[in-house]
Amino acid sequence: MDKAGGSGERNSGGISSGGGIGGLGLLLLAGLAGCQGSGGTPSLPVLATDQVIIAHRGASGHAPEHTFAAYDLARAMGAEYLEQDISPTADGVLVCLHDTTLDRTARGPAENCTGSVSSKTLAQLRTCEVGSWFNESFPERARPEYVGQPIPTLEEVFQRYGRSVNYYIETKTSGGPVDVERALYDLIVKYGLYEGMVSRRQVLVQSFQPQSLQAMRAIDAAVPLVQLTPGGTLPLLPVIASYAFGVGPPAGDASAELVTQAHALGLAVHPYTINETADLETLAARCVDGLFTNFPDRYRAVLASRVLDCPPPIR
Ligand code: G3P
Ligand code: CA
Repeated sequence: MDKAGGSGERNSGGISSGGGIGGLGLLLLAGLAGCQGSGGTPSLPVLATDQVIIAHRGASGHAPEHTFAAYDLARAMGAEYLEQDISPTADGVLVCLHDTTLDRTARGPAENCTGSVSSKTLAQLRTCEVGSWFNESFPERARPEYVGQPIPTLEEVFQRYGRSVNYYIETKTSGGPVDVERALYDLIVKYGLYEGMVSRRQVLVQSFQPQSLQAMRAIDAAVPLVQLTPGGTLPLLPVIASYAFGVGPPAGDASAELVTQAHALGLAVHPYTINETADLETLAARCVDGLFTNFPDRYRAVLASRVLDCPPPIR
């Protein structure tokens, strides 16, 4: 497994190596990579499919996860969705951090930057930074500007990118003292993302916790939902299809059979988290509708250079 993502990476499970792209009529679209836009500036390669590139915690293979550096890079690499994992602070502010504790990725005063996120106020988290750990863990990818990257609030993310990107937001905690789903919904509305969310899924809300998705649905049934699963996905599909737009299985569950059955139920399939090019090729050829990756550049290169024998993705 690639080190990027490091500890804190949920095990996506192995994927079998069968079903490569070659048997599906691999076709290289020569000359697309690195083509120039009309103004002479480099443009992104044209994609041969509409599978969606979901930048897992941003371009977190290249830059520290859940920082503006990682989100900016993901956007520059052509990711269609930026993923946020969100948790509430003690004073009810939604912040973007994967772990429920600060210990792995935050550096700063121990009283503020260790322990559970939900036990700290936003003022405390303002004293922490979440870039140094990346430079220490991945010296080959280290950059001086990563040091000092703050923990973004979700509101700051919306302020920075507005309607220029799509958001794929995971509720990590639900049912606690802070009503995470209500706070998330209110921010979506406040930042003018509601119309795009319901008309073209500019925002997707994902969770491993069905009760969190049901809470969001109770607020507004128009919010598009994705049910994440830790495994054992196939028999769950009919129930998931009754309330969700899509399903997010671990890569090891994302068989061609699962994709076919999900599509028959009208469910989009977005497996997590696939980073190696060979695995990206395998999953793309199974006709997933998109996937989570720490390396949006790699997935984009796969999609730009191959024609897939797939129906149009569910979007
Ligand atoms: O949300 C998809 C994937 O990110 C789930 O795993 O642990 O990285 O949030 P995790
Ligand atoms: Ca996630």
